Amino acid sequence: MPSVFIKTYGCQMNERDSETVAAQLVAKGYTLAPSEKTADVILLNTCSVRDFAEKKAIGKMQNLAADVRKNRPDVVLGFMGCMAQSRGRELIDKLPDVDLVLGTQKFHRAAECLDEIISGAREKIVDVAEEENSEAAIREHLLNGSAKTSVSAFVSIMQGCNQRCTFCIVPFTRGGERSRTIPDIVAECRDLVSRGVKEITLLGQIVTSYGKKEKRDAWSMKRETGGASRITHDASPNSPFVQLLDAVHEIDGLDRIRFTSPHPKGYGDDLIDAYARLPKLVESAHLPVQSGSDRVLKLMHRGYTREKFLGIVKKLRRAKPGIGITTDIIVGFPGETETDFEETLSLAREVEFDNAYIFKYSQRRDTPAAEMPDQVPQKIREERNQRLLELVNGIAARKYDAFIGRQVQILVEGPSKKNAARNTGRTRCNRIVLFDGSARHQGQLMDVKITRTGSFTLYGDPAILNL
Ligand code: 5AD
Repeated sequence: MPSVFIKTYGCQMNERDSETVAAQLVAKGYTLAPSEKTADVILLNTCSVRDFAEKKAIGKMQNLAADVRKNRPDVVLGFMGCMAQSRGRELIDKLPDVDLVLGTQKFHRAAECLDEIISGAREKIVDVAEEENSEAAIREHLLNGSAKTSVSAFVSIMQGCNQRCTFCIVPFTRGGERSRTIPDIVAECRDLVSRGVKEITLLGQIVTSYGKKEKRDAWSMKRETGGASRITHDASPNSPFVQLLDAVHEIDGLDRIRFTSPHPKGYGDDLIDAYARLPKLVESAHLPVQSGSDRVLKLMHRGYTREKFLGIVKKLRRAKPGIGITTDIIVGFPGETETDFEETLSLAREVEFDNAYIFKYSQRRDTPAAEMPDQVPQKIREERNQRLLELVNGIAARKYDAFIGRQVQILVEGPSKKNAARNTGRTRCNRIVLFDGSARHQGQLMDVKITRTGSFTLYGDPAILNL
């Protein structure tokens, strides 16, 4: 059977999609190649969120065509994921060495497409159509793939986004919101826990909107025909997402629950309350703020104000003291003035994020912001990026240093990738901790004392506490 190598660009959802494709191919008898040098099939799972991400994947494919394909003409080359979805056939027209273009609703078709190409039944395949129930097709896991994944696993709960932020290409690459059912998700989580998983991260493009569309559909269906929902909900006043958290929380043997990525408008009181109620829901929240200026937030179509956002942060910190809060921020959005940008700086100072991912605004095709007036010159985007980075990194470093001397609980994931003599674990607030430990610690919850810090890393000493 052939061997496959998958290179992933972009977010955790993309990582998860790649893992499922790899697991499906392994189940069909494929082996996983350690690198592209020896693989019979090379797939690039792509990201479209910024132009740079697309350029990187296209550049990589050009290199593969020039190097690998030249020496081994039978190698199969494919694009999957977001850029495959948004560009489709255009990719093959531009790069004739590409054999396969597989969209975001077609990951589970990878094996049959590759069969057809390898057997010669079809020369090239472009499949970017919509497919009903594709949201429930991301389910296979590669638990033996690496030590880390056997302790901590990602579970895809929904696909797509209906939010329509004016800068964002995701509704075009991932389609509208579609959610799996609670019993289906819980069954997958239970299976993972029975195989040794201790921590589950629930994944989706906008997890806080989980099940909302289905709930609305069910209501209108009930009124019209008396039909039932595809996702069953009781009369709970809580949002479907909080109902899902409750259901996953009941799984015995599961220690920790995380989720990403949420939308700030999804942090209603029911979710804040879930943080206070559910001990397995860890002290960690990613709250993508995007801007500190109300004017820019409105242009972005974010659906909240600066004040509303600050209120959510306050409530979360009250519900879960010590919670780690991270964010995404875009600098140089069209029309962003120096005054708007200074409001973002002041918001970052006020919240003191534990970490912030900063993005220079990138024009994406078909998005409203790409057509807006007053596009900010590249030089100013870069300058603002630099200024904000300095601020948030300074705050983050101070917050890391504050851990020195403190005792924290970590979930041990396994040997560190960079130095196998060290173990790596994560605090509940999602900070990486390195410590000298052995394989027997893997999968354990341990208390360690933080002795020093590195760049976005804590160093711990378990010997002091776990004799
Ligand atoms: N330009 C720059 N950053 C973007 N993001 C999304 N779209 C764009 C864009 N057009 C960022 C947002 C989002 C993160 C995943 O990527 O901050 O939260």
